[in-house]
Parts: sequence; C-alpha cells; structure tokens
Amino acid sequence: MSEPAPLARQRPAGLRAPSGCESGDAGDEPPRESWGRGRPELARCEVPDSLPRHLAIVMDGNGRWAHRRRKPRMEGHRAGAVAARNCVRACADAGIEFLTLFAFSSENWARPAGEVSQLLSLFAEVLARESGKLASNGVRLRFIGDRSAFPPSLREKMDDVEERTAGNRGLNLVIAANYGGHWDILSAARRIARAVERGRMRPEEIDRTAFESGLALAGLPSPDLLIRTGGEQRISNFLLWNLAYTELYFVETLWPEFDGAALALALREFGERERRFGRTSEQVATAPSDAAGAR
Ligand code: FPP
Repeated sequence: MSEPAPLARQRPAGLRAPSGCESGDAGDEPPRESWGRGRPELARCEVPDSLPRHLAIVMDGNGRWAHRRRKPRMEGHRAGAVAARNCVRACADAGIEFLTLFAFSSENWARPAGEVSQLLSLFAEVLARESGKLASNGVRLRFIGDRSAFPPSLREKMDDVEERTAGNRGLNLVIAANYGGHWDILSAARRIARAVERGRMRPEEIDRTAFESGLALAGLPSPDLLIRTGGEQRISNFLLWNLAYTELYFVETLWPEFDGAALALALREFGERERRFGRTSEQVATAPSDAAGAR
C-alpha cells in the first residue's frame, strides 16, 4: 500500500526538500515528538524563503495509480491517505501555516455507490487513526463542506477532533469533505440575504469582507498556492471564491506518489513566481508588501 514514492529526479542542486524528501516515504521514519520548523531533520532540507502561507491541494490520481498496478481503486485511495499523512507532516516541517486538502467533493457522490461508501469508511478510519497523533503534534484540524449528508457517527468524529484541536497552535489543517465551491458561495449568499431580510444589513453594505465572513474559509487567509496532482488542469469546483489570486501548479505525478521531493519542487516554483495582484512588476519591486495587501 505505502510503496516508497520516487525521489525527485530533477531536484535542482542545493535544494533541500521537506521531510520525506530523502527516504521517499516519511511513513517509514520512527515516530517523533513534535512537528514544526526548526527541527534538526530539516537541516538537510531546502525550502525557499517565500513559502506559501496557505497551501491547497487537489489530491488527484488515486484511481489511475491503482489501475496501473492492477489493484482495486480503493487501494489507490488507501495509498492516497498515506500520501496525505506524509504531506501533512512535510508541510508542518516546512513551516506552512495552513494546508487545505480536497478529500471529497460535492460531485463525488456521483461515483459508484460502493466507492462512495468505501471512501466514507476510509475517511472515518483515517480520522480515528490519525487524529490523536495530529492533536499531540499541535495540528489544528477543521473541516469545510456540507457535513449534513454524512452519517451521524462520522459527524460526531469530525466535531470531536475539531473541538479537541481548537487550541492547537501548529499547522492548521483543513479537510474539504462534501465541499463544493458553488455550495460555499451560495451558502454565503444566503447568509447575507437573511441578514438583509432581518434588517441587520443594508444591500449597500455588502462588501467583500461581509461576504467572505460567510464562506467556509472565513477568518483564514486565501490559498497562496494550489497544487493539483494527476495531470488534469482544472479547479473542479474547489474554493472558487478564495482562489482568485492563488498561484496554480499542475503536476503529472499521481497523488499516491506525491512525496516530499515533489512538494519541494512545487514550493520552489512558487518561490520563483512574481505575484503582482494586478500591479506592475515595477510597483511590486519597489513596494512588495503593498502588492500582497492588494488581495
Ligand atoms: C481523487 O482521485 C481522489 C479522491 C476523490 C479521494 C481523495 C481521498 C484520499 C486522498 C484519501 C483520504 C484522505 C484524507 C485526507 C482522509 P481519483 O479517484 O479521482 O483518481 P483518478 O482520477 O485517477 O481516477
């Protein structure tokens, strides 16, 4: 299931990668006390100075990974869960503050009923298995999406881990489950409409801040970088509002093979991009912080 992911073949000289970059599978390493930037293991790993504060990932390619190995699709999802765990750890090590993973989209209900029910079981299993470790490593876990469609037992697990980790100050991990960008924007619009209907707000007062306070990622910064594995180049109804100025990175690597080296390459490319937020290069060069504030 957790076959070693390939090491970076094109990793540029001098670039160190987050944890897992050398072994290709951080899951084989012995358990460690805490996760976070500045740990000795990171001395051998290169991450660029300008890291994304918020990284969002569409974890695509589990099915193809399984198909190529003549395994059932579910084996691909299981390998994907291992890759997700390793990625969470690598992001915490690299010092990324927010990580949002697209685990189950509102459109994924259209898959064969057997795959949907096995995905939900895997989701519950992963939560039960990983939540203690995440909590003790300072990770704050949140879920976005319409959880009303999930079985009560799963919803209880989700509520419980959110409560248990609410005070944690390490990596903010957001799992998008039964999430869709259209659902998110419509929910925010309904909130605003209700506030207007109740006389708490006038239509002229609806601005970006008011609208964003009703979105699933309210209070969190917008993603700086979106990675999509598996070769497709689309957003697939993920965080439609929040991705307005996000840098997009599409990679052929199938999600179960996306390891620390692959993450380091994505972070390096992000570090080389110029983010202008509508301004000119000259403006960005003279006042880079103003450009970031233009978001
Ligand atoms: C897309 O690959 C992946 C999914 C729909 C499920 C993602 C789930 C996991 C990575 C495992 C659980 C993770 C967590 C965080 C609990 P696909 O099936 O569409 O792949 P394909 O395009 O190759 O068919």
